[in-house]
Amino acid sequence: MPAIKLATVIPGPASRALAARKEQAVPRGIPSSTGLAVIHAEGALVTDADGNRLIDFGGGIGVVNTGHRHPAVVEAVRAQLDHFTHTCFTVASYEPYVALAERLNAITPGTHAKRTFFVNTGAEAVENAVKVARYATGRTAIVCFEHAFHGRTNLGMALTAKVMPYKKGFGPFAPEVYRIPFPYCYRCSAPGDKGACCLANESALERAFVGLVDPDSVAAIIIELQLGEGGFVPAPLEYVRALAAFAKAHGIVLIADEIQTGFGRTGNLFASEHYGLVPDLLVTAKSLAAGLPLAAVTGRADLLDAVHPGGLGGTYGGNPLACAAALAVLDVMEKEKISARGERIGGLIREQFCGWANQFSCIGDVRGLGAMVAMELVTDRKTKEPAKSLTGRVQSEALKRGLILLSAGTYGNVLRILVPLTIEDEVLAEGLAVMEQALTAATQV
Ligand SMILES: Cc1ncc(COP(=O)(O)O)c(C=O)c1O
Repeated sequence: MPAIKLATVIPGPASRALAARKEQAVPRGIPSSTGLAVIHAEGALVTDADGNRLIDFGGGIGVVNTGHRHPAVVEAVRAQLDHFTHTCFTVASYEPYVALAERLNAITPGTHAKRTFFVNTGAEAVENAVKVARYATGRTAIVCFEHAFHGRTNLGMALTAKVMPYKKGFGPFAPEVYRIPFPYCYRCSAPGDKGACCLANESALERAFVGLVDPDSVAAIIIELQLGEGGFVPAPLEYVRALAAFAKAHGIVLIADEIQTGFGRTGNLFASEHYGLVPDLLVTAKSLAAGLPLAAVTGRADLLDAVHPGGLGGTYGGNPLACAAALAVLDVMEKEKISARGERIGGLIREQFCGWANQFSCIGDVRGLGAMVAMELVTDRKTKEPAKSLTGRVQSEALKRGLILLSAGTYGNVLRILVPLTIEDEVLAEGLAVMEQALTAATQV
């Protein structure tokens, strides 16, 4: 039996009615890319108010790697609900917070002494990692990358590259933020050897700083090892090695933003593991608590313990329901070998995408680590002109047929997969078949 069930056109009357109410009650700055009114979600499936059942290749933007409503997560949250929902950890502490900190200290890369604390969102985790790095080093400058996305707070916007829709009209931005090129091989214009990363050496990095900022005044470099919103571009191994050596040589704190790459998405628990990288600070959110708002800063004990008592915290950070959910998520990750599953389904998706690349000339590049796979669409393979409107058409053709598909990229021309890693093989195959139909329909226009 197919997983997709279409009862009406999408969006159907009930979804459209909610959209009309939303328009009157919610600002237009908060869009809904599908227009769906969801009433239920389970595993990799989402049901709307019109009785349509769709396959979800977006996973709430990479939040449900363990699937919607995993029974173990639901049970853990229910059980916690029977005890208490809030005390504010900085007023009266509780075991699930400490247990989760211990767990993250143990499973993140590196065997050194670590500490973890919790906040609510990815952007807040990024902000806090920067606070810690500045405090511990006594330096102010922060270095980030072209194509980066780190959130929508003021510092998050400053660190984020893309102007529209994230930054336009929202300045002034936080000062002392410097941007260097990301090793985006498909669009790299640096004259280097084919197949090797031309930015990957310490002297190239030193040169990048000559007219930018004194490396010895830099508190932190923050990197997404595989760009998320910026288009699913994995950094080459040799680049990350050179960057880590450069940071070490200058006493710079290296922050890995694993908010989108974390928790099995790349076929490892963390993308850092692909690079043998032990970041000084690692920030996580999204799939950590399977939809309950929770984010973490994990890293070197000497850095995190540098900050004075009361310098970190917040009313809701490490909410007990979210910590209970996260502990259950980590159990599921282990028991169901979610990372290995990520690697396996990533292989299936990549194989399919590479096959389509022989068939559809609009597919310029197929890339990604594990199940964090994407295809970049272009109008012409030679000029690599981004095919943004085609990307939108593929998404809407997919939605019409019952598949939620997300885009990404500085140029809005990347189709990315963030499917729950628990998806059954046959449901994945059904979703991919719909994606192929959508590609065919969109390219025939
Ligand atoms: C890499 C990365 N960093 C930071 C963020 C911001 O997280 P949040 O939306 O929870 O603030 C995101 C969200 O997409 C992200 O992908």
